[in-house]
Amino acid sequence: MNALGGNQHERRHGTDTGGGRAEPDGDFDPDSAAIGEPVTAARTKLADQLRAGGRADAAVEAAFRDVPRHLFLPEIEPAQAYHDVAFVIRSDGEGLPVSASTQPAMMAVMLSQLALAPGHRVLEVGTGTGYNAALIAHIVGCQKSVVTIDMVPELIGQARANLAAAGYGRVTVVCGDGASGVPDRAPYDRIIVTAGAWDLAPPWWAQLGPGGRIVLPLSIRGIQLSVGLESAGDHLVSTSACRCSFIRMAGAMSGPESILALGPQPGLHAQAVDGPVPDADRLYEALTGPVAEEPAGLRAADLGELADLDLWLTLAEPGLTRLNMMGRHEARASPSQQRIAALMPLGGLAQVGPAGELGVAAFTPGAGPGPFEITTRGYGPGGAGLAKHLARQAAVWDQLGRPGAKDLELSAWLTETPQAIGGESIVIDRPHVRFAVRWSAS
Ligand SMILES: C[S@@+](CC[C@H](N)C(=O)[O-])C[C@H]1O[C@@H](n2cnc3c(N)ncnc32)[C@H](O)[C@@H]1O
Repeated sequence: MNALGGNQHERRHGTDTGGGRAEPDGDFDPDSAAIGEPVTAARTKLADQLRAGGRADAAVEAAFRDVPRHLFLPEIEPAQAYHDVAFVIRSDGEGLPVSASTQPAMMAVMLSQLALAPGHRVLEVGTGTGYNAALIAHIVGCQKSVVTIDMVPELIGQARANLAAAGYGRVTVVCGDGASGVPDRAPYDRIIVTAGAWDLAPPWWAQLGPGGRIVLPLSIRGIQLSVGLESAGDHLVSTSACRCSFIRMAGAMSGPESILALGPQPGLHAQAVDGPVPDADRLYEALTGPVAEEPAGLRAADLGELADLDLWLTLAEPGLTRLNMMGRHEARASPSQQRIAALMPLGGLAQVGPAGELGVAAFTPGAGPGPFEITTRGYGPGGAGLAKHLARQAAVWDQLGRPGAKDLELSAWLTETPQAIGGESIVIDRPHVRFAVRWSAS
C-alpha cells in the first residue's frame, strides 16, 4: 500500500502549522529503556528524508522526529521500523492485506494535505497500529482532541497498548465501522480516512465542522487519489490530489468490487472496476499470451508522469474497464506470474466485447527510474487494436500539456442536493454523492 513511484503529485493549500506537541502521559521518554542510539538516528534520518523530499511541512516533520514508530510495530526490529515502507500487520485468508502501517512518505503527504493546526479536533478512520493517530496528536498538541476508529476488534486493543507505550494513551480509540464516523465527539475540524473509499459517507459530511477539511484515498474509476476536500457552501471542492494506493475500506462504504483470481497457482488477482467484468481465465490467458507493443513516440520523465497519463486515459475512456493487479510476493515465481506482476504499478484498461472477447492495454514503466519511452502493450485478441488507440490518445494528452493528478479538480455534492455541473466535467455517481471531475486547464 505504498505510494506510487515516490511521485505523489499534490497541490498544497495548507500552511505550516507550527510544532504542536501532544500532552505526554507523565514524563515519558520513548528512547529510554534499552533503545539505543541507532533507533533515534534512524528516526531522525526518516524525518530528514521526508522534509528534504518535500513530503512533510514543519509540523509534520516535527511529529515524525518525535513519535517512536518502532513502538507501534513491536514485531519488527526497531531500527527497521524507520524504513520508508509500509508494513502489513494483518492479512485475510487469501493473503491480501487487511491492515498495515502506511508508508511514512504517504502519511506525511496526507497529513500535510490535512493542514492540521494546534487545537484542531480530528477524527481518523482506520486506526491500524495507532501510529498515525499519535502523529496527529503530536501536531494538534492535545491527545484528547483525537479520535480514531477501526472495525477490526483485534487491532483495537493492540493500538491502545501501542499508543500508551508511546506516551499517547489519551487518544480515543473506538471499535466500529468508520462509515458512521464517531458522532458523539463531533464536530471535527479535520477528518482523515486511511482506507480506500469510493463514496463519501454522509456522516463524515455531517460531522465536519465549519471550515473543516476531509482527506481520503478516493477511488476514481479504480485509481486511488488522496484528495483533500473543503466546504464550498452546498458542496465540497478539492484542495489537492495525489495518487496513492491504500487497502480498500471494509463495511458499509466498501463499494462493489470484482476480484478475479489469475492463473492456476493462488496469490495473483485482478480487480475489475467500472465496466464489464472479463472472464478470469480469458484474462489470464490474454496477459500471459503474445504481446503487441505500440510505441507512443513520447518519453515520460518518470513513473509519476506515466501514472498521470494512465489517470487521464482512464477518465477519457469511460467505456473501458479498469484493471488493477494485486498479489502476494510469493506469487511471482513463474515467468507468467512475473509478467502479470510487472503490471502492478499502474494496472491497465480492458475492452470486453458482448460475447466476452477481450483486449487489454497497459503502460509498463521503463526498467530504470526514467526518463523512458512510452510504450503501450496490448494483450489478448483485441489487445493490438486497443494498444494502438491508447498510444494515439497519449499524443492528445501530450498536446494538452500532460495533465495529471495535481491538475485534477474534484467537486462533490450529496445526491439530494441540486447540482450545477459544467459541461466540461466528468460526472461520477455514487450512492450518496455525485462527483464532478475536471482538469484545471479546461
Ligand atoms: C491502511 S490501514 C491504515 C492504518 C493507519 N491509519 C496508518 O496509516 O498506518 C487501514 C485501516 O483501516 C481499517 N478499516 C477498513 N475499513 C474500515 C471501516 N469501515 N471502518 C474503520 N476502519 C476500517 C482497517 O482495519 C485498517 O486497519
